[in-house]
Amino acid sequence: MWTALRSGAEQSSPWGSRGRVCALSLAVAAALLLLGFLIGWFTKPTDEVTATSFHEKVKKAFMAEMKAENIKQFLYNFTQRPHLAGTAENLRLAQQIQAQWKEFGLDSVELAHYDVLLSYPNETNPNYISIIDEHGTEIFNTSLFEPPPPGYETVTDVVPPYSAFSAPGVPEVKSNRLLKSRKLKVSCSQLGLIFRGSWKIRPHKLYSPGNFQLMRFCRTAAGHLEHGVWEHSWIMTSSKINTSLIPPEYTYRYEEARAVGLPKLPVHPIGYNDAEKLLRDMGGPAPPDSSWKGSLNVSYNIGPGFMSRYSTRKVKMHIHSSNKVTRIYNVIGTIRGATEPDRYVILGGHRDSWVFGGIDPQSGAAVVHEIVRSYGKLKKEGWRPRRTIIFASWDAEEFGLLGSTEWAEENTKLLQARGVAYINADSSVEGNYTLRIDCTPLMYSLVYSLTREIPSPDEGFKGKSLYESWHENNPSTEYKDVPRINKLGSGNDFEVFFQRLGIASGRARYSKNWRVEKYSSYPVYHSVYETYEIVERFYDPTFKNHLTVAQVRGGLVFELADSVVLPFDCRDYAEALRNYVQVIYNLSKNHQMGLTTYSVSFDSLFSAANNFTEAATDFHRRLQQVDINNPIAVRALNDQLMFLERAFIDPLGLPGRPFYRHIIFAPSSHNKYAGESFPGIYDAMFDIENKADQRKAWEEVKRQISIAAFTVQAAAGTLKDLA
Ligand SMILES: *[C@@H]1O[C@H](CO)[C@@H](O)[C@H](O)[C@H]1NC(C)=O
Ligand SMILES: *[C@@H]1O[C@H](CO)[C@@H](O)[C@H](O)[C@H]1NC(C)=O
Ligand SMILES: *[C@@H]1O[C@H](CO)[C@@H](O)[C@H](O)[C@H]1NC(C)=O
Ligand SMILES: *[C@@H]1O[C@H](CO)[C@@H](O)[C@H](O)[C@H]1NC(C)=O
Ligand SMILES: *[C@@H]1O[C@H](CO)[C@@H](O)[C@H](O)[C@H]1NC(C)=O
Ligand SMILES: *[C@@H]1O[C@H](CO)[C@@H](O)[C@H](O)[C@H]1NC(C)=O
Ligand SMILES: *[C@@H]1O[C@H](CO)[C@@H](O)[C@H](O)[C@H]1NC(C)=O
Ligand SMILES: *[C@@H]1O[C@H](CO)[C@@H](O)[C@H](O)[C@H]1NC(C)=O
Ligand SMILES: [Zn+2]
Repeated sequence: MWTALRSGAEQSSPWGSRGRVCALSLAVAAALLLLGFLIGWFTKPTDEVTATSFHEKVKKAFMAEMKAENIKQFLYNFTQRPHLAGTAENLRLAQQIQAQWKEFGLDSVELAHYDVLLSYPNETNPNYISIIDEHGTEIFNTSLFEPPPPGYETVTDVVPPYSAFSAPGVPEVKSNRLLKSRKLKVSCSQLGLIFRGSWKIRPHKLYSPGNFQLMRFCRTAAGHLEHGVWEHSWIMTSSKINTSLIPPEYTYRYEEARAVGLPKLPVHPIGYNDAEKLLRDMGGPAPPDSSWKGSLNVSYNIGPGFMSRYSTRKVKMHIHSSNKVTRIYNVIGTIRGATEPDRYVILGGHRDSWVFGGIDPQSGAAVVHEIVRSYGKLKKEGWRPRRTIIFASWDAEEFGLLGSTEWAEENTKLLQARGVAYINADSSVEGNYTLRIDCTPLMYSLVYSLTREIPSPDEGFKGKSLYESWHENNPSTEYKDVPRINKLGSGNDFEVFFQRLGIASGRARYSKNWRVEKYSSYPVYHSVYETYEIVERFYDPTFKNHLTVAQVRGGLVFELADSVVLPFDCRDYAEALRNYVQVIYNLSKNHQMGLTTYSVSFDSLFSAANNFTEAATDFHRRLQQVDINNPIAVRALNDQLMFLERAFIDPLGLPGRPFYRHIIFAPSSHNKYAGESFPGIYDAMFDIENKADQRKAWEEVKRQISIAAFTVQAAAGTLKDLA
């Protein structure tokens, strides 16, 4: 159970083993930097104005405390063994992190456990796909495991590639078929679906040329068999499997048969060398156009079945995975706020990995560890943030964001009433080109001002800020002259906080050049080759980018937790809203006939966005004039800012998606990782020409416009002067 409000015993013990890592050379620098901070401390502020300069001093000390070398050591430490959710090894890591966070100086560090539905392959009965001849003899089998990278040959408990929650089964199909659809194209590029065959392992020179690229994922399915058709689809199960449970023993459990969102078909991921074998002799017509082709040396004939010579052959799947209710563990650490302990700023990232988790998630978890260590150091010196900071190491993210979702559900009432912001901390790197930020518009100005204070780690930007290199490498196309910031989608632990509860959220990592590197995520994603060495040799040898990500994530938390006035700018939300209204309106112009026939108007939405803009402008003016020494006045305005994101929540949720309740943003219905603005209207208009009942379809568009206009107008109301 989580006890955020308990004021834990002060930790006064000296540095533990972790602290010795950075030892002497760093100690001198740290001492100098802490000096400034200590001066600040002993000349303790007497009013809020000097509090602001004190805040700046502590921020500098905090930023200087974080070290690339520590992040590197932590990454090494977290990646030597597999940490699959639900295993003893991952519990051991949770206990290690709990002990270290205590040693670092947090007020309290607890394990929060939940019994949830996970899925594992059968150890004695492996999953594979075979080609069988007319006698049923298996003449080709896909591989049962990925050949381990050098140095990892003797590691045990490496789970073979599988798709979690796949239905078990041993189906045989004769009419195997290569399918592609608009939807599929998204799912292929998102997950590197092997049948497109365009997947490459870039740093392959390190490893044997077997070059397996196996996607192991779990919230999604790579392909499935149905009605004798070999088909692929973008099955994203609901982010929370409905059978998962909250700890109280009275929690009602559905039988697994009644679970919502579990795939009903067998699914299995394969490497591209196996895919080549399965595709080589496909019969049927040639692909309709080049977009069906990948870079395998095969015809990409679309089937059904094999070429005439092999027409008696069939494809057989052997899937023996099973679902199991299993205990998972979040680690929850807190530093109690000095002035507003009932306001929470949360930094969370997952700890479970498919295998070693070199990038996903340990490059993120190592950064969180260094951030916690640095906050602990400040606290040991006598500092406390204004608000409470909560650090979370989530479990079972890979199985559908389970640990974060369970914890947020258990603490919903507290989070709705007290949650200021959530910063997500999965993988710190997915490339080495530039910064990537996805966040609520409320954080835009905070992100821009913070990145101006952080030095750029990029070559050729010596003496320049992170903002400058980021701006040059990835300028916004949507907004004027600023670096690009993306909308929040899903596929990660911020989902429940942002999409369900309406807590302002953001995430930061180092990314690749998307204009050039078109593949999704990164080539070794979720494979056994995601090791420490991959990061250390190819992604970030000096860990300078990791340090930058630590400064961004840690710096955001610092500003959110310690600024007197919350660093949210509601005028940026207004500008974003006006833009999104224009975007959805422009989109609707593709259906001019329907708009005219059914008298669809966007006027109310334009009006609401204008009213919101006016309210935001007025609010901001009042905020500038607030008497910063009047704690009640400050708190009142801060609460308006904190609850603004909440005001975009519709308790009824989006159509068919009760857990996505944010009216401005949702994960796209067509690609769960991406964000969509005004998702209710967007989905109602999607493919509307092909809907059978046009009147009904356009009535739904009108209903969604009305919901959006009401929500924006109501949110504007929350910014109005109090009386
Ligand atoms: C990781 O660090 C902890 C704490 O210092 C230590 O107990 C553990 O043995 C280390 N594990 C590895 C694999 O190095
Ligand atoms: C794994 O397969 C074996 C052999 O078929 C079977 O006896 C066992 O029950 C299976 N285990 C699970 C957990 O399903
Ligand atoms: C495929 O695996 C089955 C079951 O283990 C085995 O009987 C068969 O000989 C294998 N086929 C090949 C080509 O390895
Ligand atoms: C969970 O599953 C039950 C039984 O299938 C269903 O009635 C209920 O609506 C589901 N709840 C949610 C929130 O999806
Ligand atoms: C492609 O496959 C064909 C027939 O299987 C083979 O003759 C040819 O050498 C292959 N090309 C490459 C580049 O491997
Ligand atoms: C790192 O940057 C270099 C130089 O831009 C680039 O060639 C290389 O591919 C990058 N490495 C990774 C892993 O993205
Ligand atoms: C909407 O369309 C108008 C007119 O074609 C264009 O000027 C404007 O840039 C578009 N706005 C957006 C946000 O797409
Ligand atoms: C916007 O404000 C005006 C003036 O108060 C009001 O008449 C109008 O109804 C508001 N728009 C919406 C969508 O509520
Ligand atoms: Zn992850």
